This record gives sequence, structure tokens and C-alpha cells, in this order.
Amino acid sequence: MHDILADEYIFYQSVFEKAEKVASYYGFQPIQTTILEKTELFTAGVGAATDIVEKQMYSFRTKGGDHLSLRPEMTASIMRAYLEHGMHTLPQPVMLWQKGPCFRHENPQKGRTREFQQFDMEIIGEPKPIAEVIIIQVLKSIFEELGLSIIVHINSIGDKECRPAYRKELIGYYRRKINNLCPDCKRRLKENPLRLLDCKEEKCLELKAGAPQMANYLCSSCKQHFREVLEALDSADIFYVLDNHLVRGLDYYSRTVFEIFENEGSGDALAGGGRYDYLAKTLSKKDFPAMGVAIGVDRLVQLMRDKKILPKQKKQPKVFLIQLGNAAKYKSLEIIEMFRKAHLPLNQSISKDSLRGQLNLASKLDMAYALILGQQEVLKDLIILRDMRSGNQETINLRDLVEVIKKKIAYD
Ligand code: HAM
Repeated sequence: MHDILADEYIFYQSVFEKAEKVASYYGFQPIQTTILEKTELFTAGVGAATDIVEKQMYSFRTKGGDHLSLRPEMTASIMRAYLEHGMHTLPQPVMLWQKGPCFRHENPQKGRTREFQQFDMEIIGEPKPIAEVIIIQVLKSIFEELGLSIIVHINSIGDKECRPAYRKELIGYYRRKINNLCPDCKRRLKENPLRLLDCKEEKCLELKAGAPQMANYLCSSCKQHFREVLEALDSADIFYVLDNHLVRGLDYYSRTVFEIFENEGSGDALAGGGRYDYLAKTLSKKDFPAMGVAIGVDRLVQLMRDKKILPKQKKQPKVFLIQLGNAAKYKSLEIIEMFRKAHLPLNQSISKDSLRGQLNLASKLDMAYALILGQQEVLKDLIILRDMRSGNQETINLRDLVEVIKKKIAYD
């Protein structure tokens, strides 16, 4: 887990602002679900035999006896909120975005932390491939806005009709190789065989290359659905590669699954998502097909920093306010408010006392003007405006201050 300081925060702010803007443009509405949830939401939703639930959740028992967890992801929470607030009665689909932290007790390494920020988008109530295409198009636009081009790794993992046959085939394949599997995969083979395709151990990766592929087992409706998704990506000029062994680490997925990578890079996935048509049924008695994605904002920020993609800077102040004496200190707050309301940036160091110290700071910060407020000026509602380059000074009426500054300084 790490703190985000000012230098880094501007990158996060820029990512969130761009993502919110594009998502809202496409009709996504904001939602903010709670960071703590009942543990059973994730056990049922994400899957008891996934790494996330088995090994990575921050779970605890409250004094009242409730079993709670810090959310390891947002999809289950958003579906819970959709059901709890009767959003199925709204015009469908319901499109939602959410930003904020998630928590997974993973082995920390580059691109992997225990608290991380996601920007999540979900389309609930849309069974057709258009949901996939909207989500991927919105992602493409967000990344483009940030100066990055992406490639989509995509696969279909079928539905409840066709996946059992594939699962059986996969178990058969890995059983024949059981002695070469890592201890985790030996266990996974019994509980959750699809997870074997996710294992990053060298020897399991070698076996994965020869493992059966879901594409050969898809039923006709899953095939048709996937074909439509790919055709739409083609016509939207979105680059993708078919990744026949992509399964993703969460159990709620069906049909389309995908991950987003930077086009030129070979780094970690910047985003991941897919369709989860059965999650609503798992959490309630109702069926609401859905599709979504989460962007890993920390990885995105790291990539921007590595590639030196700088967020647009806000207007930088060119004026420094200097105050001398107690009365001027308090009057300064009034002046700061005047500037704030006029949307003029202003620098100051209100806790400093000496004229020299404040003037030095103003020139260190390369300010064009200093405003000097002493006891005399406070009494007469005046202020001294000093041109920092020439050293020329003039006294102006406080009433006219904002207008004078606006005329002197053209902010972009
Ligand atoms: P996920 O693939 O587990 O999917 O996470 C999405 C993204 O979050 C990843 O691609 C990665 O960029 C980032 N991420 C995940 N774990 C970490 C970590 N420990 N440190 C830093 N970044 C991380 C989900 O969470 C699904 N809920 C996505 C989804 C939404 N599926 C449908 N709707």
C-alpha cells in the first residue's frame, strides 16, 4: 500500500478526469458503493476457489459477529447495489462507473500493490454484443485521450451450455500431466480447473501451450455472439489478438473475456473485464446479463510516468501575496477569497512574517508580481503592487485589485 503525494496525485487526477468525462459522454452514471462488504458477497460472486477469495481478501469479524471484507474488486458490489436498489426497474441497460481503492493481499511487485485504484465501468441488463463493443470503445477513447494506444487480448469462455464439455476435456488433459504441475495447480485441478490456465509458474505455462482451447467447444450461440463482437471491433478499427487460453481470475465470467495492454509495450494488463451473465443469478433469484471492465489506474499512472506523458498543468499563479503584521495576515484571507472567486491563481505564504523572506520566496517562485499588504494599507483599504522584474511599485485600491491584475496578466 502506498500514499499518493502531490506530484503523483496530478497523474491520478488526470486519469480519473479523462475517464469520467468519456464514460459520462457515453451515458455511464456514477455510483459509489461501500468499501466494506459482507464477505459472502465475494465468496459467492467472485468465487470461493479463486485466488482472490482464497488467498487475497482482507477479511475480519466485527465485534457484532459480522464477517466483512475490504472489496478486492468492484463488480460484485455494483451488482449488489443494482439488485438492492431495484435498478432493474429503470430503463435497461443501466450503465455505471465507479472509481476508488480495492484491496488484495498479493505479493507486492512492480504493477502489483495491496491497495490499488480502479476505474470501473459496468453495463447491466444488456445481453447483446453491443455491450462489449461500447465498453471496449470507451476504453480505447480513454487511453487515446491520455496519449496511449491499446491492444485487446480477447477470448470467449463459453456459457453454461458449452463450458462443461470443455472443462471435462481440460481436466483430462491436465490429469495426464499431473506430475508436472505445481502444487497449487494440483489442488486447482480438483476445485477449479480453468484456473490452471492462469498459473504463471514456468512448468505450468509450458503445459498451457498444449492445453485444449475453448474456441473448439463453443456452442453455436456463443460462437455467434463472439463473432459479432470481433466483427464490431474490426469495423471500429480496434486492434485485438485472440488469446485462446485467456480465462481471467474471477469466476463470474461467461462468454467474452478480455484484457487491455499498451500497444507497444509488453507490461502488465492495464485493464481487464468481460461478460458476467450469471452473477445476478448467483446473488439473487433473477437473471440480468452484464458486461464490464476495470482499469488499473496505478499501472496506468506508472506507464504515463515511464513514458513521460505529463498531465496538463493547471494555471500557475503569477502573483504572490505578502503580508506584514497581524492585521494584514487576517486581511490576507479576504484577499485570497477575492482571488479565488475571480478564478485567479494566487501564491502566498501566510505563516511567514518578514518582508525579505516573502520577497525572496516570490522571486524564487518566479512570480511576475508581488502584492504587499502592511498595517497602513489595511487601514486605508489599499495594497502595493510590485513588479518583480523592474522593482517598480504602485499603490492601488483594494476595490480595484482584481480588475488591475486581470488587465496585467493574461492567463491561458
Ligand atoms: P481484474 O483483472 O482483477 O478485474 O482487475 C482489473 C485491473 O486492475 C487489472 O487489469 C490491473 O490493471 C488492476 N489490478 C488488479 N490487481 C492489482 C494490484 N494488486 N495492483 C495494481 N493493479 C491491480 C477486476 O477487478 C474485475 N472486477 C473487472 C471487471 C469489471 N469485470 C467485469 N466488470
